[in-house]
Amino acid sequence: MAERFIPLVDLRSSIVRAARPRLPEPGSALVDMRGRPLRDLRISVTDRCNFRCSYCMPKEVFDKDYRYLPHASLLSFEEITRLARQFVALGVRKIRLTGGEPLLRKNIETLIAQLAALRTPEGEPLDLTLTTNGSLLRRKARMLRDAGLQRVTVSLDGLDDAVFRRMNDVDFPVAEVLDGIEAAREAGLGPIKVNMVVKRGTNEHQILPMARHFRATGVVLRFIEYMDVGSTNGWRMDEVLPSSEVVARIGAELPLVPLSSSVSGETAERWGYAGATGVHDPSLGEIGVIGSVTQAFCGDCNRARLSTEGQLYTCLFATRGHDLRAVLRDGSDDNALAGAVAAVWQQRTDRYSELRADPTAAPMLAGLARVEMSYIGG
Ligand code: GTP
Ligand code: 5AD
Ligand code: SF4
Ligand code: SF4
Repeated sequence: MAERFIPLVDLRSSIVRAARPRLPEPGSALVDMRGRPLRDLRISVTDRCNFRCSYCMPKEVFDKDYRYLPHASLLSFEEITRLARQFVALGVRKIRLTGGEPLLRKNIETLIAQLAALRTPEGEPLDLTLTTNGSLLRRKARMLRDAGLQRVTVSLDGLDDAVFRRMNDVDFPVAEVLDGIEAAREAGLGPIKVNMVVKRGTNEHQILPMARHFRATGVVLRFIEYMDVGSTNGWRMDEVLPSSEVVARIGAELPLVPLSSSVSGETAERWGYAGATGVHDPSLGEIGVIGSVTQAFCGDCNRARLSTEGQLYTCLFATRGHDLRAVLRDGSDDNALAGAVAAVWQQRTDRYSELRADPTAAPMLAGLARVEMSYIGG
């Protein structure tokens, strides 16, 4: 069979070169063209995954001929940590490790230990977390915790074994992911979040069973609208189930009340389970809905993404990245590195989800080759 790969190469930009690094004055925040600060860094540590979720790494594309990144092109742990330190100096307070499946990266606990040692300018540790499909959690949860990971978010698209096996498309049993979540709880990796991507007609009937299962367990279940990320998942608007409908369906059986957001720039809208008196009962917990298609949240988006090979992306839907690996490897000092990151952020104007919802702007986005989520991480 012919070799097949997604033309990521074409999407990569040239080296970032800030003519004169414009670092923010000490004490003043780095903001983009829309006044948004840089707070959240998502680091993809591998482009590989042992699942083949059709909305992310469809089997027909990510088959045995697919060319993953060669080891030499990946950032080393030392390079990632050096870069992360600059991001923290520029305002980042949360780091999320993603993939692909981050637990497939060899010795990931070594990187976690290095990142856990970083401190904010105020001397505080970072909010250090990881998104995983849960398949390796039983084996690794304790080690991750010991290395300094604080919490995990587990992707799980249904409770019904047949539905789940079909969605991960590698026949992986749901019981093992549930056991992985249990292992994370035993290891103290909380608060645990579970992310369910909802596809109309595929797993929408799993919304209520999932809500019933995780209610009053301390796990925060979040429903994500199926998004048009990348260029391979054959996305169609009629497969998106709006978050408002998720809330309506759950609320009809398990009463919900709106909660205020916990931090600025949050992706999820929070809803709490109401007790008998109609007010939020914290012992019943909460859910979240992430309505990135029907309710864009670009207005205060403070997220940057670093690909496995050191490309910086300032939007999940970006068509090009900025090559930080080249700056890392050309002998630049930390100041120049921070200057390169700052220059990219200062020029940022991204608001893809808002534009998609705008009938006058959306047609211009249609033909663009977007980067894959397995490459830059969720
Ligand atoms: P917490 O700090 O644990 O609340 O994490 P989070 O709110 O950053 O959420 P998480 O990383 O679990 O992201 C959940 C999902 O939301 C992702 O898998 C994406 O599907 C979606 N998402 C996250 N960030 C963005 C973003 O910047 N833009 C869009 N459009 N979707 C996003
Ligand atoms: N739409 C929404 N979320 C997606 N993810 C991956 N692809 C998509 C998509 N097309 C997210 C899911 C998954 C995480 C790894 O990435 O949240 O849990
Ligand atoms: Fe793997 Fe997560 Fe993508 Fe599924 S959504 S293929 S588990 S990276
Ligand atoms: Fe941020 Fe881009 Fe997502 Fe908007 S679409 S919230 S700018 S990552």
